[in-house]
Amino acid sequence: MELQILLTENKRKYKQIYEQIRQDILKKKLPAHTQLPAKRRLAEQLNVSIMTVQIAYEQLKSEGYIYSVERGGYFVSEVDEDFYFEEPKFLNFKQTNVTHRYINFKNGQVDAEVFPYKTWNRLYKKQLNERDSNHPWQGMNNLRVEIAKYLQQARGLSVEPEQIYLFSGFQQQFMNLCLFFNQSAIGIEDPGFYRANAVCDQLKLQSYGIPIDEEGCTVPTENIKLLYTTPAHQYPTGTVMSIGRRTELLRWADKNDAYIIEDDYDSEFRYKGSPIPTLSHLDIKEKTIYFGTFSKTLLPSLRMSYLVIPSHLQLDFEAFNTNQKATVSAIDQQVLAHFMSEGFYTSHIAKMRTLYRMKRECLITNIKNQLGEEYKIKGDSAGLHIILELREGINETKAIELAKKNGVEIDAVSTMYQCNKPTNKVMIGYGAPSMEDIQRGAGLLASVWHDFLN
Ligand SMILES: Cc1ncc(COP(=O)(O)O)c(C=O)c1O
Repeated sequence: MELQILLTENKRKYKQIYEQIRQDILKKKLPAHTQLPAKRRLAEQLNVSIMTVQIAYEQLKSEGYIYSVERGGYFVSEVDEDFYFEEPKFLNFKQTNVTHRYINFKNGQVDAEVFPYKTWNRLYKKQLNERDSNHPWQGMNNLRVEIAKYLQQARGLSVEPEQIYLFSGFQQQFMNLCLFFNQSAIGIEDPGFYRANAVCDQLKLQSYGIPIDEEGCTVPTENIKLLYTTPAHQYPTGTVMSIGRRTELLRWADKNDAYIIEDDYDSEFRYKGSPIPTLSHLDIKEKTIYFGTFSKTLLPSLRMSYLVIPSHLQLDFEAFNTNQKATVSAIDQQVLAHFMSEGFYTSHIAKMRTLYRMKRECLITNIKNQLGEEYKIKGDSAGLHIILELREGINETKAIELAKKNGVEIDAVSTMYQCNKPTNKVMIGYGAPSMEDIQRGAGLLASVWHDFLN
């Protein structure tokens, strides 16, 4: 018998012979026990070496498609119908080139253009040469020492490096902590950080929305032992928790044997008045777990954050995490430790504070000048975003849709609420866009919203 095999140039010959015979067997074009042509004959027919045919036959044999009989040649095996499969289609994974360039007013972004890549690169290269295989799950000791020093100097907190635990972002550490406390319910300020609610959903942990008023997160009335809050710059409203509310919350925690998770995510960037002290700073009874992140001060893509656990919980927390492995690259941690110890971190924050202050002023001026006084700016004293209360006649959904159609991306606010969702507010982040884009973006928003309203 003669096999119909077509050879092309772009693939190894033995592979083509193997694949085409295998196809014929699977499609039953070659029924079981059919004898295949002798190696020499097929080699002559295809103008290839005997060795090429031999390799193809051996491959088919080792996969069970054919069998050999001594001095009798090669024969097709019985192949179960169920094993028939279509040759997988060749998928062409095209890079999706996003040609549309949006003005990025989305929240949670920083100005990545001015990150000190050169310094980071130098420290990284140096670190790669260290070949250090030590990576405790809690985080590298020298980084924890640097974080402890920073917390003392910048946030007035006296914590031991042993109390600090490195994680790869808010959700990882929040989830770990919720699991550690093993509660059936938790209080989350409402409005609040939607990622905290997302973790509760994943853990099937009941979350009570604890209302915010003008003094910040209110005192919970529910029977809960864990409360998540953002005292220095409430997310998303921007409210600063009053001193009175701070003491009330600490008293509540003490009286109810509860703990407060203080998320101090963007306190480095404060533009009005002096820095807001932390809740932990007032906490002599050790009722707060402090959360810090490098996502705002450096880059969110580094995925580095940390929590500070009260010393009396440390042993239990360690025991709970006995089999935990580090979630942050030890190399990145070492680079950051050197970045901090050599003074680059504080100077970078100082530089970014000036830049973000300018961007904030640019945004506020442009909103006032281009959109007008009917649009109200809220929560602008700190951080990297503001809340914009819209003019009557346009709601959040329409405002976002029109903005996007015209090349400007902004965020919703209603999604941060569990109850009483507002429909007249949007969030504008100014970390990422350049000053020119801020100006242009405000102009675009003004023109599309104005057209809609008139
Ligand atoms: C309220 C809040 N907490 C924490 C974070 C930090 O999250 P991560 O460390 O996962 O980047 C953010 C970042 O946007 C935030 O908005």
